[in-house]
Amino acid sequence: MTQLDEHKRKVAEAALAELPAEGIIGLGTGSTARFFIEALAARIRAGAKYQAVATSEASRAQAEALGIPLLDDDGPWEIEVTVDGADEVDGEMNLIKGGGAAHTREKIVNGASRKNVIVVDESKLSARIGEKWPVPIEVLPFAHKTTQANLARYGTPTLRMHGDVPLRTDSGNFIYDLAAGPIHEPSVLEMDLRALPGVVETGLFVDRADIILVAGLHGVRRISEAGSSQAK
Ligand code: A5P
Repeated sequence: MTQLDEHKRKVAEAALAELPAEGIIGLGTGSTARFFIEALAARIRAGAKYQAVATSEASRAQAEALGIPLLDDDGPWEIEVTVDGADEVDGEMNLIKGGGAAHTREKIVNGASRKNVIVVDESKLSARIGEKWPVPIEVLPFAHKTTQANLARYGTPTLRMHGDVPLRTDSGNFIYDLAAGPIHEPSVLEMDLRALPGVVETGLFVDRADIILVAGLHGVRRISEAGSSQAK
């Protein structure tokens, strides 16, 4: 396992300490969330009573293979805690998500959760989101080039490809990655982008993280609105 993978595994396992003794858990998407899903499955095998909601077909397939009981996609759900990764995190706990094209479902599940725990390694930290990552925007395939022209008012939108064809999300839509540079007012940008016809959802997560766990060389740091501390 690479050192980066080791950090992802450690931070994902640290998230177990944020869970209640039982209840419904939201399963994020991505390489860090995969480690959390493995750790949750081990807890369930040891007798813990959890059910889960998946934020992508990939996470669903992993959870099913590991025997995690899943609720259906229709909602509404009473989710206690969702554990998910992020692509970029700033000092105000704003996030960019969607590197795995799952941010629309992730945002819905985030919004249905009492507590949201974000698990990242130190490479994801920035002074301002947008410094390192473009903002993934899920758009309808219909008139996507018109949507692209509208998105271009806010940065440089690039259609995400899968080989020779546009990548499709789990809902059958396209993704434009919008290089916007450092974002000073993420909530304003999010509102502007969501107002564009054809935009389904943006990867800007503002005020959506309750706890951020960050793995680095010196262990796992826990960041919450109340401050920062070393996680056990
Ligand atoms: C999925 O669309 C994303 O929001 C992921 O949560 C994000 O890309 C983090 O993934 P990694 O843990 O693989 O970096």
